[in-house]
Amino acid sequence: METGRGLFLRAAAAAAAWLCFVGAASASAPPQRYTPDWPSLDARPLPGWFDAAKVGVFVHWGVFSVPAWGSEWFWWHWRGEKQPDFDRFVQARFPPGTSYADFAPRFTAHDFQPLQWARLFQQAGARYVVLTTKHHEGFTNWGSNVSWNWNSVDTGPHRDLVGELGDALRERNIHYGLYHSLFEWFNPLYLLDKKNGFKSQFFVYGKTLPELYELVLRYKPDLIWSDGDWEAPDTYWNSTSFLAWLYNDSPVKDTVVVNDRWGTNCSCHHGGFYNCQDKYEPGTLPDHKWEMCSSIDRRSWGYRSNMQINELMDESSIIQELVQTVSYGGNYLLNVGPTKEGVIAPVFQERLLALGKWLGINGEAIYESKPWRIQKENCTCSTWYTSKGETVYAIFLTWPESSVLILPSPVSSATTKVTMLGFSEPLKWQVAPDKGLKIMLPSAVPSLLPLQHGWTLKLVGVA
Ligand SMILES: *[C@@H]1O[C@H](CO)[C@@H](O)[C@H](O)[C@H]1NC(C)=O
Ligand SMILES: *[C@@H]1O[C@H](CO)[C@@H](O)[C@H](O)[C@H]1NC(C)=O
Ligand SMILES: *[C@@H]1O[C@H](CO)[C@@H](O)[C@H](O)[C@H]1NC(C)=O
Ligand SMILES: *[C@@H]1O[C@H](CO)[C@@H](O)[C@H](O)[C@H]1NC(C)=O
Repeated sequence: METGRGLFLRAAAAAAAWLCFVGAASASAPPQRYTPDWPSLDARPLPGWFDAAKVGVFVHWGVFSVPAWGSEWFWWHWRGEKQPDFDRFVQARFPPGTSYADFAPRFTAHDFQPLQWARLFQQAGARYVVLTTKHHEGFTNWGSNVSWNWNSVDTGPHRDLVGELGDALRERNIHYGLYHSLFEWFNPLYLLDKKNGFKSQFFVYGKTLPELYELVLRYKPDLIWSDGDWEAPDTYWNSTSFLAWLYNDSPVKDTVVVNDRWGTNCSCHHGGFYNCQDKYEPGTLPDHKWEMCSSIDRRSWGYRSNMQINELMDESSIIQELVQTVSYGGNYLLNVGPTKEGVIAPVFQERLLALGKWLGINGEAIYESKPWRIQKENCTCSTWYTSKGETVYAIFLTWPESSVLILPSPVSSATTKVTMLGFSEPLKWQVAPDKGLKIMLPSAVPSLLPLQHGWTLKLVGVA
């Protein structure tokens, strides 16, 4: 669906891109050209918006949202691994002879309101959003010209989901990321290449690459979140050629960031920022920009109608993951799976809004922050650090019973000042008996304190 407004935005974007091009051409230094190999591509500096953004929302949405049972790997569990409970589920709920393709018309997106989603994600404090444009099932959430009848325009919603969400996010200045699976479980061209030991590339030339180029040219994403890379080497996927084009000649060459899933053994070694494995948690400060992706529903990325409340992350575990991740220099990408109608379940909304409320007070310690010389305090105080210039932020997740918090690591000076974000009075402190700071937390009644899960002390004049 191409609205007048969409056309106008596209025309404006094209004009802006042209002006940038002219601007770059008149600058003196010739732009660097990247060559299609990892040493060259890995040397590209990561565009700064990504590290500053820190918080994103991940959205897993597709035909798997129709059975909405088990996980977004439904088709594989059912027809690949042939787990009997998946077959029993289909027989019990769907007419005889139902195939996975029969789910697509039921992916209606009837209640999908992209402007409402964008508003929710902004209220959650997200500075970027990553949508599954195509998961391993191969169904594209846009009218891909190489995905005949297995896309959201020809069937199901009959809408360009990728485009509609992108337009809504941009109205709120939220960066847009496109998740894209390189491989597809059951695509015959992929299975043929696999049978050929990945010596042929019918699938890559006929499907993967045309889709990637089309996504970039049509939607001008700020981020490409690649996945489904693990069965075949990057040489099969032609990943380095695509990335060299992306960095040299694409309309988003100066702003786009990518992750690290571009072929066997690439993850955690090559690409832009590193995801490593899902829900990765490094034990020490990594020397490369990274992102932790996590899901409110601990058991699934896609929507499951049978999820139970005790399987979901609660507010304090979300905040803890965010704080740990950011203190180790990572970004935090928190997932929700919408229903086949396009509803984000109220329980997910509630978790996202809680995160946004926490960030509303403590965001100063998160957005645009850098790791400090110490990331985590070795004490029962569960305290994590971030920094911004000379300012140090100590985020503690457990309120000490005595309302006195001892932080061994910061070295105080004559100018040291301690405040708590969301609380106007400066806090009293002393030099702790051994070393560090002994801080008297506000003794207000709990209901007057800003929030229940994690508080931030702003330390000025400490080393
Ligand atoms: C699909 O779209 C892309 C970009 O919009 C275009 O370059 C390409 O030629 C098209 N391919 C086919 C098979 O129509
Ligand atoms: C990936 O790494 C493993 C272990 O180092 C190695 O055995 C394998 O050959 C590598 N695969 C590719 C495609 O490079
Ligand atoms: C794929 O990679 C090969 C080898 O690097 C290169 O010659 C070819 O042009 C690439 N094709 C595309 C479409 O990127
Ligand atoms: C905490 O303990 C670990 C392991 O003993 C040590 O490497 C680290 O430096 C300690 N951190 C602080 C803040 O003392």
